[in-house]
Amino acid sequence: MFSRKISSSLEIRLTLPKYASEIYTLIEKNREFLKEWLPWLDNNTSEEDTQNFIQEQLIKFTKGEAVHTTIFHEGAIVGVAGFNSIDHTNGIGYLGYWLAEEFNGKGIMTQVVTNLIEMATVDLSLQKIDIRCATENSKSRAIPQRLGFTHEGTLRRAERLYDRWLDHEIYSILIN
Ligand SMILES: CC(C)(COP(=O)(O)OP(=O)(O)OC[C@H]1O[C@@H](n2cnc3c(N)ncnc32)[C@H](O)[C@@H]1OP(=O)(O)O)[C@@H](O)C(=O)NCCC(=O)NCCS
Repeated sequence: MFSRKISSSLEIRLTLPKYASEIYTLIEKNREFLKEWLPWLDNNTSEEDTQNFIQEQLIKFTKGEAVHTTIFHEGAIVGVAGFNSIDHTNGIGYLGYWLAEEFNGKGIMTQVVTNLIEMATVDLSLQKIDIRCATENSKSRAIPQRLGFTHEGTLRRAERLYDRWLDHEIYSILIN
């Protein structure tokens, strides 16, 4: 099974169906927190929805079109991160992530993204990583900024978030 140890307390593993229950419990606990920036909360309202999502990601993984990982901190699931989409023709990976509120502020996601960049460079042979964050989502934007990504520009009304439109800031890093 695919897993990467980041530190003595932090590890990422390929997201498997057996994690669905724990991930869904975490989503339930953080529903309002995640809803501030993520659009899919109203479409994930049962463990079965989470299970279906994981299965879709695994099908994409077998085709080389995505790598979805689960973040373990001291053995417990605290969030997810990965390449939601991989464009092999152009060697570009599109990164996304979320972390439970109580584990924010510890540098966990910055370490995870650093590790995913290494994986994309060595194992996936990508040439570029793309991270898109809502303009007002300063905590998400701080991650690519902290890791030396280049700000490429702004996409206007890139995403509908429930009752409003969000602009997206595009960050990228060239890796090969
Ligand atoms: C976006 C999100 C993952 C950011 O989480 P985060 O905890 O701020 O990010 P990190 O885990 O990298 O931690 C960085 C914080 O830890 C601090 N930190 C402590 N040790 C650190 C270390 N070794 N390295 C980096 N930062 C460290 C940083 O100063 C920063 O804190 P600050 O915001 O008070 O300055 C989280 O807020 C989230 O999941 N939000 C909801 C979903 C979302 O927006 N997803 C992204 C959609 S594009």
